[in-house]
Amino acid sequence: MDIKQVGIVGGGIMGAGIVQTLSSFGYPVYFKDVNDQLVDKCFMQVEKIYESAVKKGKLTGEQAKERLSLIKGGTDDKGFDQVDLVIEAVPENLEIKRQVFHLLDRICKQGAILATNTSSFSVSRIATFTSRNSQVVGMHWFNPSHVMRLIEIVSGVETSPEVVESVIDFCGRLGKNPVQVKECAGFLVNRLLGIYMNEALFMLEEEGTPILIDQAAINIGMPMGPLMLGDMVGWDVIYHSNRTLYEEYGTRFALPKLFSKMIEEGKLGQKVKNGIYPAGQEFVYPEHIESDAHLQVLSNRLLFVMLNEGIRCLEEKVASASNIDRALQLGAAMPKGPISWADELGLDILFQGLERFKAMYGERFWPSPLLRRLAQAGYLGNKSGKGLSILA
Ligand code: CAA
Repeated sequence: MDIKQVGIVGGGIMGAGIVQTLSSFGYPVYFKDVNDQLVDKCFMQVEKIYESAVKKGKLTGEQAKERLSLIKGGTDDKGFDQVDLVIEAVPENLEIKRQVFHLLDRICKQGAILATNTSSFSVSRIATFTSRNSQVVGMHWFNPSHVMRLIEIVSGVETSPEVVESVIDFCGRLGKNPVQVKECAGFLVNRLLGIYMNEALFMLEEEGTPILIDQAAINIGMPMGPLMLGDMVGWDVIYHSNRTLYEEYGTRFALPKLFSKMIEEGKLGQKVKNGIYPAGQEFVYPEHIESDAHLQVLSNRLLFVMLNEGIRCLEEKVASASNIDRALQLGAAMPKGPISWADELGLDILFQGLERFKAMYGERFWPSPLLRRLAQAGYLGNKSGKGLSILA
């Protein structure tokens, strides 16, 4: 299907970035939200992104104005009967999604593709809220959605290959990189980020020093620390996603106690100007913190849980080795993909490190069966000339 016009439901942080991306590539966009205040907020967010693009010299003021004029927003269903694709970006609440998909199924033309930006619910389940299961697909964007170049494409059990092909082609036309991933809780990127964010909160419970924990991530080359990332994405969003991971995968995703405390206290991050870091404060990392032995342990804990989860995803065929690497670099700005990173580090080093951390901190560090097998059989990664990449 040739996608010419698009509808967005939900104009929050993610939805606004999606609206801006679509309009910036010349697509007419209809978006809806539940009240005028939220509609205005979305327009303001989109305008802010355009203002920044003009300031950075990426667009002229005139071009920005033209692209803004492609956007129609409101609380009604106007325009949704014409669109070829709808992207749902409402809060992660299954009842809300049920109502939205039920409505879309009723008002959208036959043949329109209905995509969900869910990060945690099953696409197959969401598809059952419609009478067009084969036209429902997962299109999972990453925050900030106008910046991050990955979109995970997820098929439900009945999604048609033509629908998948159409959305993959469409993502390419938006300058994004689509990566097909298997349907499972957290899909791919959120599995690695989820366990990493949990680890950061466990550290915070032990250490109580956000700057040190974030610095431990910066030291391994992550673009921002996990606690800063949580403030950016919203702790309620991450809590919801990580709870789903726990329900599906069990104890290695056990939630730090701090999570529910933060939710109860309303410390949801930048959107409420209250998170791990103080209200609205622009956080500046210290110039340089020497990487001492303690900081190195924190860095290794963050890195090893992510690499281990990446290897689990490879073993479960969530995606190929090269796509796992590509997705994590594009969706979470990891400096190297987790599979090649593990091969470079040495699978024996990773395996032994995980075993040590398992003894100290518990089951969440349990090495993946594939890692154990390869490390014990002498497939040690780059240094032995054979490792995970031979499975690519
Ligand atoms: N909140 C919102 N937007 C932010 C931000 C923040 N805390 N920090 C930076 N940005 C925006 C900036 O406003 C800027 O936007 P414009 O292009 O419109 O001006 C853009 O990001 C680039 O900013 P900078 O030039 O300052 O670039 P940077 O080099 O500092 O990079 C970053 C910023 C892109 C956010 C980078 O730090 C990064 O890639 N971080 C990792 C992000 C990540 O992991 N995202 C995935 C989260 S998980 C998810 O989204 C899935 C889910 O289901 C919840």
